[in-house]
Amino acid sequence: TRTPVTVTVTGAAGQIGYALLFRIASGHLLGEGVPVRLRLLEIPQAVKAAEGTAMELDDCAFPLLSGIDIFDDAGKAFEGANVALLVGARPRTKGMERGDLLEANGGIFKPQGEAINAGAADDIKVLVVGNPANTNALIAQQHAPDVPAERFTAMTRLDHNRALAQLSKKAGVSVSDIRRMTIWGNHSATQYPDIFHAEIAGKNAAETVNDQNWLENDFIPTVAKRGAAIIEARGASSAASAASAAIDHVHTWVNGTADGDWTSMAVVSDGSYGVAEGLISSFPVTAKDGKWEIVQGLEIDDFSRARIDASVAELSEERDAVRKLGLI
Ligand code: NAI
Repeated sequence: TRTPVTVTVTGAAGQIGYALLFRIASGHLLGEGVPVRLRLLEIPQAVKAAEGTAMELDDCAFPLLSGIDIFDDAGKAFEGANVALLVGARPRTKGMERGDLLEANGGIFKPQGEAINAGAADDIKVLVVGNPANTNALIAQQHAPDVPAERFTAMTRLDHNRALAQLSKKAGVSVSDIRRMTIWGNHSATQYPDIFHAEIAGKNAAETVNDQNWLENDFIPTVAKRGAAIIEARGASSAASAASAAIDHVHTWVNGTADGDWTSMAVVSDGSYGVAEGLISSFPVTAKDGKWEIVQGLEIDDFSRARIDASVAELSEERDAVRKLGLI
């Protein structure tokens, strides 16, 4: 039998947590046959609710689930973690300025970064889901100086999957016929879903669709504003799709991308494509043997350049704002 992989999940009693934990425990995060041990982190008021979820996890009798522990202390929750899913965050409430939002989240992601630095396993992989995800990931990463920076990532896989779904509908093909989709930049309304490098059944997607009006006025805004459309329709923010994307993100990171394909992940920039070094920005990435790499050498035309630059400018502003607040 294999040694269980320790997975820490924050915000375990939240709505994404409720959709996410059952898929982790049933073996979908890491792959078939890999046992997992869960460590759940919640704020004290939500520990009881997390215990309720843990009771249901027990009741599923998942063969791969080898234990669940619940904490309200980050230092304990990240002890020995091989994978950390940082889902819990402070949502924007009415009347809250962006600075207040960044500050409140700094109060969460700084101590969590420190706890990861102090206690996580040497092979720790971190995915930040809680918004503003890219900048929260940057804050955590900056407070974990002993962990290689490339182990901190933020989630744009939901945007990537939304883009696949929209393109598959437009082209009348299955999502599995589409390869090389890319989300660039911030997980926010400025993100840029790029189909100029995507392929449908091996042919260039933008040329196949050949509809610039749809691309500019339908596809890009639909993907970028999908979160708001879900809230409008469902009366609650995306949860199961976000959880599913988190599963996809980690599964791809650990198990690799298919030959000839890539995925989208927000990762620390090495300066590729003119994205300032150190920002955690979404790129096309391949993964192999548990390591990601930014896809190199793609041609970026003026249309794409302007959109990538706008989203990256927003990330720079967020970084400046958290610097000013002394959070990094
Ligand atoms: P939720 O409000 O239902 O759950 C959040 C949970 O986090 C709550 O149970 C809360 O008690 C907990 N929490 C708060 N502070 C914590 C801390 N310091 N430590 C541990 N737990 C803490 O929210 P939901 O719907 O589950 O969403 C979670 C986050 O994911 C939000 O920030 C949301 O904006 C973000 N999100 C990100 C997406 C992405 O694509 N990157 C997609 C959808 C949501």
